[in-house]
Amino acid sequence: MCGIFGCIVKEGQAAPLIHASLKRLEYRGYDSVGIATMQDGKISLKKDQGKIDDVNRLLDLDDLPGNLGIGHTRWATHGAPLKVNAHPHMDCTGNLVIVHNGIIENFSELKLELENSGHVFVSKTDTEVIAHLIEEILEKKPKLKLAEAVLEAVKRLDGSYAIAVISTKEPDKIVCARNESPLVIGLSKNGFYFASDIPAFLPLTDKAVFIEDGELVSLSATGYEIRNIENSKVVTRKPKIIDWTPEMAVKQGYMHFMIKEIHEQPATLRNTLRLQEHYLDLISTFLDRANEVFLVACGTSYHACLAASYMFSKLAFLPTYPVYASEFVEQHGKSVNIDSTILAVSQSGETADTLAAVTCAQQRAATILSLTNGIGSTLTRVSRVYIGQQSGPEIGVAATKTFTSQLSVLAQIALRLSKKRGKISQDEMDHIEERLEKLPDIVETIIQTQEEKVKQISKKYKDAKIFYFLGRGISTATAYEGRLKLMEIAYIPSIAFPAGESKHGPISLVEPGFPVVFICAKDGTRKTLISNIMEMKARGASIIAVIEEGDDEIKELADDYIEVPKGVPEVLSPIPYAIPLQLFAYYITLEKGQNPDTPRNLAKSVTVK
Ligand code: M6R
Repeated sequence: MCGIFGCIVKEGQAAPLIHASLKRLEYRGYDSVGIATMQDGKISLKKDQGKIDDVNRLLDLDDLPGNLGIGHTRWATHGAPLKVNAHPHMDCTGNLVIVHNGIIENFSELKLELENSGHVFVSKTDTEVIAHLIEEILEKKPKLKLAEAVLEAVKRLDGSYAIAVISTKEPDKIVCARNESPLVIGLSKNGFYFASDIPAFLPLTDKAVFIEDGELVSLSATGYEIRNIENSKVVTRKPKIIDWTPEMAVKQGYMHFMIKEIHEQPATLRNTLRLQEHYLDLISTFLDRANEVFLVACGTSYHACLAASYMFSKLAFLPTYPVYASEFVEQHGKSVNIDSTILAVSQSGETADTLAAVTCAQQRAATILSLTNGIGSTLTRVSRVYIGQQSGPEIGVAATKTFTSQLSVLAQIALRLSKKRGKISQDEMDHIEERLEKLPDIVETIIQTQEEKVKQISKKYKDAKIFYFLGRGISTATAYEGRLKLMEIAYIPSIAFPAGESKHGPISLVEPGFPVVFICAKDGTRKTLISNIMEMKARGASIIAVIEEGDDEIKELADDYIEVPKGVPEVLSPIPYAIPLQLFAYYITLEKGQNPDTPRNLAKSVTVK
C-alpha cells in the first residue's frame, strides 16, 4: 500500500501542495518519497528513501518548478526501500515519469520482453516496467496521444494499480488509471487533484469523483475526462461532496483503524495472491532441504505459525516446530545448528523477541528465512530470504489483516512445498488452490452478512467476566487468536486451549452461563468437537459457535452462532474463521466504551528502515 497524489493548479506551484498532501497520506506508507513536476516541457524530479520530513530536510521537496506534478509515498513490496526504488520512475529517456500504488503480477515477463527490446531498467520495482511499456508503445506509434498509449499499456498489466503518468509529449496533462487500487479525483476552483485517498486533498476541496476499476482519467487545467479502459467510451459521473473531518477521512469514514483494517482484508488477501513466484520457490526449497524447521514469532504472528505447522504437516508432510520467540533461546538456543532452518514471522520485522531468537540462531549458523510486512526492516536485513506479507501499514494495535495475510502467504509456501514433494493428489491441490483464490470473496461475504449479527451477540455477552475459546486441529490456532484479540482490546480474561484438553482440567471452571466460543470448521475433528460442545453444554455453558453455513447439527447445540460460507478446505479455515472473532472482539470493546485502537499497556512495533 502506497500513497499517490498529484495536481494541476491554476495559481501557485504544484510541489508544495504535493508535499503537504503526501504528508497527509503517510499512514499509507512511509519508507521513501518522491515528487516530479513539469515546467516549460521539462520534468524535474526529487526522491529518496526515508520519511517525508527527513527527505524534505535533505532535498527541499517544495523547490520544484511548475504548476503540474505527481508524487508518491512508498510502502515497499518489490525492491528494498532505497532511493533507486523510490517513485516516480522514468522511462529510458527521462521524458516520461510515473507513480504507482499496487502490484503488477506479470512484471517479470514484461521486463524481460522490454529488456530484449533494449530498455534499460534501473530499479527493482514492478512499477518501472509500466514507464518503459508506455515508452515502447509511443516509440512504435508516435502519433498516439499520451492517454491512448497509457490505455494500451494498462491492458497488458495483470495485477492491481492506481497510476499517474506525466510526459513531455503532452506537458499539460496527467493521465491516471485504476484497477483494484484506490483512486479519487478532487475538483476545486484552483485546479484538479488525484489521490489514492480523500485525506490527501481534503483541505483543498471537498468535491470528489471516485474512479472505478477499469477506468482511465485525463486531467488538464481545464477539466477531466474519464474513459472505460476496455471499450474507450467516455464515462460521466457526478462529483460527491465529502463531509468527513480530516480524522474521519484518514479512517475512510470508519470509527477506528481496527474496523477499517478488518474491512480491508478482502483487498489485502487479494494482494497476498500476487506474490512473486521466485520467493515462494526459494523459501519452499530451503524448507525442503532443512533438517529441522522452527516457526518463530510472537503474539498473532505466533498463532499464524501454529496454524502453519498444521499446513506444512498436512500438505507437505513436513514437521515444523512453532516456538514463541521469547522462549526460543531457552528452549532451543543450545541445539539449533547449521542444519536448522528458522522461518521467523513478524508483521513489523522489528519485534525484539523475534530478533533475539533470530540472532541466536544465526550465531549458530542456522538458515534464517522470514515473512514480514516490513520490507527493509531489521528482520529482512538478517534473513537469507524473506517474503512480504503485502498488507500495507497496520495502525490498530490489534493485528487483524496481519493474521489473514500471513496465513495466506504461509499456505502458499506449504502448497509450493507440497508440489515439490508430491505429497497430495493433483485434485486436492487444485481444489485448495481454487479455494485460496476465492478467499478474498469469502471474507467479504462474511463481513457483509455476519457483521450485524456479531454486533448483536457482542451486546448479549458484553458483561461476561471470562471466555473460553476452543477448537481442534488447525482451529486451535484460530481459537488462540480469537482469545488474544478479545483479551488485549476488551480486557476480558479469556482462555484458549485445544478442545480435547477440556476434560483434563479446564472444564472444572464451567458453570451455568459460562461463555464458550467454539471454532467449528467442518473437518476431520468434527465428531469429537461435537462431543466437547455437548460436555460444555451439559454443564450449563453458553455456546457461541462459529460454524460452516447450514451446519444444523451444531446450530441446534449452540446458543448463538455465526456462519462462514461452505467449502473452505481445512488448511485454509483459520483465514475466514478468524474474521467473526475479530469482529466480536471489536464490538464487545465498543460495548464496554473502550478504544480498540489503543489498548492500555500495549504498543505496536514500528518498522525501522
Ligand atoms: O510485529 P510482530 O508481528 O512481530 O508483532 C507480534 C506481536 O507483538 C503482535 O502480534 C501482538 O500480539 C498484537 N498486539 C496482536 O494483536
